[in-house]
Amino acid sequence: MRAMKFILASNNQKKLLELRAILGALGHEVVSLAQCGVVSEPEETGQTFEENALIKARSACRASGLAAVADDSGLEVDALHGAPGVHSARYCEGTDEDRVQLLLHNMKNVPEAQRTARFVSAVACVFPDGREIVTRGQCEGVILTQCRGSGGFGYDPVFYVPAEEMTFAQLPPERKNAISHRGKALQAFARRLGEDLP
Ligand code: IMP
Repeated sequence: MRAMKFILASNNQKKLLELRAILGALGHEVVSLAQCGVVSEPEETGQTFEENALIKARSACRASGLAAVADDSGLEVDALHGAPGVHSARYCEGTDEDRVQLLLHNMKNVPEAQRTARFVSAVACVFPDGREIVTRGQCEGVILTQCRGSGGFGYDPVFYVPAEEMTFAQLPPERKNAISHRGKALQAFARRLGEDLP
């Protein structure tokens, strides 16, 4: 497989580091929108994680002329019929902490056995010649009734992974990346690249 240059369609530093680690190991280069002086902030109007990831990747590919990678992710809670889902980042105004508190409030009457949830991530890559790759990763867990741990971001402190006996906020970052929705979607993407690239 020949080495390629990808642009990450996100301004999130953590996503950039994660993508660099995975694609860098395969010999590819990953640059940010800022590094290329590219502005790409399309409206995320999709109904699914896959649609939103594709919207972001298509926009960055058009703006930069480079193969563009984007991810879209969120938390699906079974007792809330899949909410906050694609609206996870905008569940309410305010901070990550405010969104966690709203989630706990909306689940205050949900018994332990019914607090199942999953993080989902879709990774999309759009090439200048029009080819598109989309992969998905999921990580199953349970929503606690209070926060545990201080690492990570977003809903990590209330997302408990039974197999690890820890929340995402308690896991060391390398371990979270290995088992997380985004880590799995990126690993699947790296495998697809190996199969699809000439
Ligand atoms: P986006 O993918 O950048 O549009 O944002 C997805 C939103 O889902 C984030 O703002 C978080 O609220 C939530 N989210 C996605 N992945 C994670 C994660 O690994 N931990 C905690 N929250 C996450």
